[in-house]
Amino acid sequence: MNLETILNNTEFTKEELVYLLSLEGQDMQRLLDRALEVKLRELGNGVYLRGLIEFSNSCKKDCLYCGVRCSNKNIPRYTLTDQEVFDCAELAMEMQLGSLAIQSGERSDRVFADKIEYLVSEISRRYNNKLGITLSCGEQSEDVYRRWFNAGAHRYLLRIESSNTELYYKIHPRNQEHSYDVRINGIETLKKVGYQTGSGVMIGLPFQSLEILADDLLFFKNTDLAMVGMGPFIPHDETPLYEYKNELLSDEMRMNLTLKMISCLRLLMPRINMVAATACQTIDKQGREKAILAGANIMMPNLTPLKYRENYLIYPNKQNVKDRPIDAKNSLHLKMEAINHEIKYNEWGDSKAFFDK
Ligand code: 5AD
Repeated sequence: MNLETILNNTEFTKEELVYLLSLEGQDMQRLLDRALEVKLRELGNGVYLRGLIEFSNSCKKDCLYCGVRCSNKNIPRYTLTDQEVFDCAELAMEMQLGSLAIQSGERSDRVFADKIEYLVSEISRRYNNKLGITLSCGEQSEDVYRRWFNAGAHRYLLRIESSNTELYYKIHPRNQEHSYDVRINGIETLKKVGYQTGSGVMIGLPFQSLEILADDLLFFKNTDLAMVGMGPFIPHDETPLYEYKNELLSDEMRMNLTLKMISCLRLLMPRINMVAATACQTIDKQGREKAILAGANIMMPNLTPLKYRENYLIYPNKQNVKDRPIDAKNSLHLKMEAINHEIKYNEWGDSKAFFDK
């Protein structure tokens, strides 16, 4: 295969993607540089922010990789008060972040649905829709997705975690509560309701091959997503997948594989929004900057009140447990400037791909 020829394509076969994902050294850098070029051409050097609110770590799911899985009895469960959520929104306004992302452990009871609906509608009302609202609150019924959409949320993230059914069931319990089909259908329902819909996968999971990752990329493309979030898998010692810790690729290799995935997807889907995931920063101090230079264009500074953060450790060593939001924002600003990128304040930063249709 000829690297330069492939890099100039706009369509890619699975074999070509596997080849790109296997690149190392200077060839890998060529892929990353090409993806940056495509991003700058299609979207410019703007980076959009979503202030992250980790609303609750109560979760009915038992995902085999996640530190807040319901079987982990070693963490106290919390849910923010309404006032704490409004304080986060106020902070997002003061910091001119432009958008909020409300993320939560998964619940499907009525109280939860009502609560999110209330919070979204109240934030929309208070700030006159100045803050864009992304939700990442798990699998819900079509009715609930619709109520939240009507309340003012317009983007929704539901990571598929792996598009490969077999791998999906190696990292989730095989039961009704963790159904691959329900998750896939969820993505379709979200699109139908009208959300800018995002998904994503973890990279460097045990049992994951380059072929599976290439299929993930083609899955994102075929699903016509507006947004994608991909980050390295980080083993958590209170989870079943920790057992495979010694069989994983090294941190550096998982980071590089994440960068190659971001770059390949930027070539495949030039105008989608892609996040520089916080997990990147956990395994590499410069991880998020590297992700931006590989084609990502979104960052999520954490607004969660500090006292709750250590109870939302979906993976260990999360970097921002002690960062005050305002310090995090100022340091992001400088970091982006240093790599010739510009944070776009006070803008929703919607997915361009979504509006191309
Ligand atoms: N390592 C990396 N990412 C993780 N996530 C959950 N657990 C881990 C982990 N151990 C990701 C999943 C989930 C998102 C909220 O965090 O992709 O969808």
